[in-house]
Amino acid sequence: MKSLMRTHYCGQVAEQLAEQNITLCGWVHRRRDLGGVAFIQLRDREGILQVIFEPDNQALFEIAESLRYEDVIQVEGIVRLRPENMINAEMDSGKIEIVGTGLTILNRAKTPVIPVDKPTEISEELRLKYRYLDLRRPEMTARFKLRSAVCRTLREYLDNEGFLEVETPILTKATPEGARDYLVPSRVHEGSFYALPQSPQLFKQLLMMSGFDRYYQIARCFRDEDLRADRQPEFTQLDIETSFMHEEGIMGLMENMIRTTFKKHLDVDLANPFPRMTYDEAMNRYGSDKPDLRFAMELVDVSELVGHIDFKVFSDPANSADGKVAVIRVPKGAELSRKNIDDYAKFVGKYKARGLAYIKVNDISKGLEGLQSPIVKFFDETAMTNLLNKVNAETGDILFFGADKTQIVNDALGALRIKIAQDLNLVESGWKPLWVVDFPMFERDDAGALQAIHHPFTAPNIDDIELLKANPDKALSRAYDMVLNGSEIGGGSIRIHRSEMQSAIFDILNIEEQHAKDKFGFLLEALEFGCPPHGGLAFGLDRLIMLMCGAESIRDVIAFPKTTAASCPLTSAPSRVEMPQLDDLHIQVKEKPAQ
Ligand code: AMO
Ligand code: AMP
Repeated sequence: MKSLMRTHYCGQVAEQLAEQNITLCGWVHRRRDLGGVAFIQLRDREGILQVIFEPDNQALFEIAESLRYEDVIQVEGIVRLRPENMINAEMDSGKIEIVGTGLTILNRAKTPVIPVDKPTEISEELRLKYRYLDLRRPEMTARFKLRSAVCRTLREYLDNEGFLEVETPILTKATPEGARDYLVPSRVHEGSFYALPQSPQLFKQLLMMSGFDRYYQIARCFRDEDLRADRQPEFTQLDIETSFMHEEGIMGLMENMIRTTFKKHLDVDLANPFPRMTYDEAMNRYGSDKPDLRFAMELVDVSELVGHIDFKVFSDPANSADGKVAVIRVPKGAELSRKNIDDYAKFVGKYKARGLAYIKVNDISKGLEGLQSPIVKFFDETAMTNLLNKVNAETGDILFFGADKTQIVNDALGALRIKIAQDLNLVESGWKPLWVVDFPMFERDDAGALQAIHHPFTAPNIDDIELLKANPDKALSRAYDMVLNGSEIGGGSIRIHRSEMQSAIFDILNIEEQHAKDKFGFLLEALEFGCPPHGGLAFGLDRLIMLMCGAESIRDVIAFPKTTAASCPLTSAPSRVEMPQLDDLHIQVKEKPAQ
C-alpha cells in the first residue's frame, strides 16, 4: 500500500506537470456543471485546482455530479494545459486543469454553516463556534502558514546567534506583569493554588543565573485582563534573555531579527537602525508611548499661549504644573460636520476629557473673521495669531483642543489623533518601527502610591540606592519597547542583578519585606549566588503576526482564540464542573445571591 494518499498538493501542480498522472486529496470548494461537464474546484492547504469530469466516463461523471460543498475526495487525473480562452487569471493554477480519471468520496460533509468558498460577513461568534470551518478559508490558512514560517525564521535566527531554547513551567507562582493571575487549585495541597505564568520572566532570569547565557522560548502567557482587539487572555511571546550584554547589544540583535524576518517574508526593508524616541518625547508629540509614525497630526503644546486668556477651561490647566493645553491640527478638517465634531467630543469623553474645543480655519487670510469656533471670543487678535502660527494652521484645517491634566490630554488627543487618521484615511501605507526608551521607572496611581511601569525586576538608571530612594520620581528605567505602526510588539529591559537593589525596589514599591520574601524570596536568594548582569525582552508573537498579515485582530492569527468575554464558543469553556471534582480540589463555589 502506498504511504501517501496523494502525489501532490493542489498548490504544487503547475504547467511543467502537463500530461502527467497525479493523485490529489482535498475538499470540494465549488462545483458547477456546464455543457454536460462537471467542474470541481478542489481545495487543499496549498491551493485550489480545477478538476473536470467529462460525461464519456458515465460512472465517474455521476459521482462527480453528486458531490456537494466540502465533501472530502480523492481524485486521480491527468494535468492538462487549458486552452487560451479558458485561462483563469484569478486563480494561481488558472493555466491548468486536471482531467479526472478516478474519483473516490472519502467522506461526505453536511452543508457548511460558514461559507468556505467566499469571504462573507460572518459573525465572529459563529466563526469561533465553527472555527475548524473558518480555518479552512484560504485567507485564514494563509495566515497560519505565515505564522509557522515566521516562527521558523525567528528560531533559526536565534539558534544561529547561540540562543538555547528552554521550556519553563506553566503551573507556577505568580509573576507580576500588571494583570490578574489565572489560578489552578492544587488537589494535593489543600487550599493552595498554582498561578499560570503572566510571562516566564522570573524563570528566564534564573536561567541566566544558571549560566545558560542566551535563552529563548516561544512561550504561552496567561493574563486575566480586559480584552481588546490586540489582547487575549492566553497569548504567545517570543521570550528572550541574555547575559553580559548592554542595552545597545540587545536592541541591535533584536531589531536585526525583526528586519531579517520582514525581508524574508514580506520583502520589506525596515529602517536600519530603527529610530529611537524617549518616552517623554513620545508622550508630548503623540500622546502615547507607542506612537504611530505613519501620519503626522502631532500634539502641539500651546499652554504658554493660552495661560493669560479669559477662559478658565484653558487658563487653569495651562498654569498648572500637572496640566496642559494641546492642539492637534487636522488638514482639511474644516469640512467636518457638526455631528462629526460632536462624535469626536463623545469619543474623547471615554478618556475623561471634559470637552473638545475646536477652531475651524475657514480662511486664514481673514484673521479672527475667517475662523469658526465657540472659543474664538476668548482670544484677541495677537493671541490668536500666535496660536495659529505655533500650530502652522492653514485654510481648511480644524484645530482640536485638549485642556486638562497632562495625562488626560495625552490620552484623549493621542487616541483622537489615531481615530481621525483612520476616519479620514490619513494613515500612509508602509512600516514605521521605532524603539521607545528612557521610560520613567515608576508612576503614581490615583492614590499617589508608586507603581513599577515595567515589572519590578527592571533596572533603574541610578545605581546608588540612597539616591534612588530619595528621588524615585526622577528615576528612569533601563527599559525599551519596540513599537511598529502604533502597536507595542515587544518590550524588555536590563534587569536588576544585585539583591540589595532588588530589595530596595520592593521597598520603594511598598512591598513589605515579608511579602517580598513570600512571593519572590527564591529570586532574592538566587541573586546572591553569583548572578550575572543580564537583560532581555519579549515580543508579542500574535501581535507581530497580526501586523505582518494585515489582520485586524489577534484573534485572526490564533487558531482557537477566546472571545472578548474570554470564552470559547467552540468548546464552551469556561464551564461548570461536577461536585466531586470540586470536592477533590477542596473548593466550594459561592453562588451569587438571587437578585
Ligand atoms: P510585556 O508585558 O510588555 O513584557 O509583554 C511583552 C509583549 O507581549 C505582548 N502582550 C500581549 N499580547 C497579546 N495579548 C496580551 N494580553 C498581551 N500582553 C502583552 C505585547 C508586549 O509587548 N516579561 C516581560 C518582557 C521582558 O521584560 O523581557 C513582559 O512580559 O506585544
Ligand atoms: P464651555 O464654555 O464649557 O461651553 O466650553 C466651550 C468649548 O470648550 C466647548 O467646545 C467644549 O467642548 C470645550 N471644552 C470644555 N472643556 C474642555 C476641555 N477640558 N478640553 C478641551 N475643550 C473643552
